[in-house]
Amino acid sequence: MRSACRTVILASGSGSNFQALIDDNRHDSAILNIVGLITDKTDAFARQRATKASIEDLVVSHDREQPRSVFDAALATAVEQFQPDLVILAGFMKIISGPLIERYQGRILNIHPALLPRFKGLNTHQRCLDAGDHLHGSTVHFVTANLDDGPGILQAQLGVDSNDTAATLSARVQALEHKIYPIAARWFAEHRVTMQGNQSVLDGLTLDTPIVMTEDTLLT
Ligand code: GRF
Repeated sequence: MRSACRTVILASGSGSNFQALIDDNRHDSAILNIVGLITDKTDAFARQRATKASIEDLVVSHDREQPRSVFDAALATAVEQFQPDLVILAGFMKIISGPLIERYQGRILNIHPALLPRFKGLNTHQRCLDAGDHLHGSTVHFVTANLDDGPGILQAQLGVDSNDTAATLSARVQALEHKIYPIAARWFAEHRVTMQGNQSVLDGLTLDTPIVMTEDTLLT
C-alpha cells in the first residue's frame, strides 16, 4: 500500500481550508496523512477542528519582545517535530522565512485569495472591486522567500458580479478554495507536481502559468 504524505498544516484563524483537507482525506485511500496543526494564535478556531479530527496541535506564538528570528527558529523546530513531507499554509498570517524556507524548499504550499500575480498581500477582495476587475479567484502556489510570489500551481477563477461586495467575493472565493486546495495537495502527494528552480512542473510539463479551473467546473 502507498504510504500517505505526512502533512503539517499551519493556520491562524478559522481553518476552513484545513477542514476541507481533513474532509478530503477521511477515507481509507487518503493520500495526505495530516499529522499536525501549528498555529500562532491560542484562540484559532482551527485548533477546535484539529481536536475534533484527533490531529495533534501546537501553538507557536510570536513574542514581540523577542527578535523575529526567535519565532522563525521555534516555528521551524515545531514543524520538524512532525517530520513532514509537506507543509501547507492555510490562512497562516505570518510570513514564512529563514530556516523553514531553507529546509522545506519546494515542499511548502500556500493558498492566496487572488489570481496571482494580481493582488499580493491583504484585502484582495476589496482591491479587486476597486480595480474594476471582471475576474477574481484564488491561487495555490509553492512558497518561496518572497511573499505570495512562488510558482503557481492551480487557480480557481470566477466572474465578478456587478452586485458583489468584498464579503460576497470572500465567500465565493472560499467555496472554490475548498475544492482546489485538496486537488493541488493531492498532485503534490502523488508526485505529479514539483517545484524545479522557480517553476512548477506538473506531469512533466513546466507551467508558465497555473492551471485554471473555473467556478462552473468546480461547483458542479
Ligand atoms: C483563505 O481565504 C486563504 O486564501 C487565505 O486565508 C484564508 C484562510 O481561511 N490565505 P480559512 O482559515 O482557511 O477559513
